[in-house]
Amino acid sequence: MDFTNQVAVVTGGASGMGAATARELAVAGARVTIVDKNVVLATAFAEEIGVEVLIGDVSDAAFCEEVVQAVVARYGRLDILVNAAGIIVRADAPGTTNEQWQRVMNVNVGGIFYLSRAAVAVMKQQGKGVIVNFGSIWGGVGAAGVVAYCASKGAVHQLTRAMALDHVKDGIRINAVCPGEVNTPMLASERREPVTDEMLQRIASTVPMQRLADPVEIARVVLFLASDDASYMTGAMVNVDAGYTAR
Ligand SMILES: NC(=O)c1ccc[n+]([C@@H]2O[C@H](COP(=O)([O-])OP(=O)(O)OC[C@H]3O[C@@H](n4cnc5c(N)ncnc54)[C@H](O)[C@@H]3O)[C@@H](O)[C@H]2O)c1
Repeated sequence: MDFTNQVAVVTGGASGMGAATARELAVAGARVTIVDKNVVLATAFAEEIGVEVLIGDVSDAAFCEEVVQAVVARYGRLDILVNAAGIIVRADAPGTTNEQWQRVMNVNVGGIFYLSRAAVAVMKQQGKGVIVNFGSIWGGVGAAGVVAYCASKGAVHQLTRAMALDHVKDGIRINAVCPGEVNTPMLASERREPVTDEMLQRIASTVPMQRLADPVEIARVVLFLASDDASYMTGAMVNVDAGYTAR
C-alpha cells in the first residue's frame, strides 16, 4: 500500500498493535507521529523506525488537543488517526475498584473521544480524513472477569458508529478494528500468575484457528481501513479474530 506523504497519528504506538501499525504506515511512506505515555519505549521505537513521537496520556483532553495542534503545525494537515492506546483490568464487578473503572473508561473511551474530537475539527476543514479505532471482540460479545474492559470496548464501538454518522457528510470515514487474541504485552498484563507457554497455549485453544495473532496481522487490516481501498466503509466494526465471534 502507498501512503506517501500522508500524515498519520498512532496512539499506543510504542507497543503491540499500535507499534505494528506505526511501522507498517512508515514503511508505506506515511509521516507518522507516535503518541504514547511510555517515554522509554516510545522514544526508542520512534527512533528505530524513524518517526516523530509525542509523550503523554490520551485520557488528558488538553494533551489530545495539543497533539493535533502540534501535528498540524508541523505538517499542515492530519490525514489518518489510529486510536490504539488502551489498558485492561482483569476483574469482575466486585473486584473492580472505582479508580480502576474510571481509569479504564477514561483511557479506552475518553482517549479515543478526545483525540477524535480534535482530529475531526481539522479533517472537516480538509474535507477528508480517516479514523481507525481499536475496539475488541469483547466489545461485541461478553467475557468473564474483564467487566470494565468489556464495557469500555462496547462504548468504543458505539462511539465509532455515532461519529461515523455525524461526519459522513464531512468526507471523514471512521471504522473500528476488533481484534481477537493477539500476542502483545497486553495479553500478559494484569494477570495474577506469570504468563507461561502453557497459558498462551490455553488462550490459543479458545480460538477457532488455534493460535494467537501476530500484531502485524491486525496492522494490515488497519492500513486497509485507512486506505482509499476502503472508500465505501464507514461505521464498520471489522472483526480480525480467526473466527472467535463466528460461533
Ligand atoms: N492484545 C489483544 O489481544 C487485544 C485484543 C483486542 C483489542 N485489543 C486492543 O488493541 C489496542 C492495542 O493493544 P495491544 O495489545 O497492542 O496493547 P499494548 O499493551 O501492547 O500497547 C498499548 C500501548 O498503549 C499505551 N498506552 C496505554 N495507556 C495509555 C495512555 N493513557 N496514554 C497514552 N498511551 C497509552 C501503552 O504505553 C502501550 O504502548 C488496545 O486498545 C487494546 O485494548 C487488544
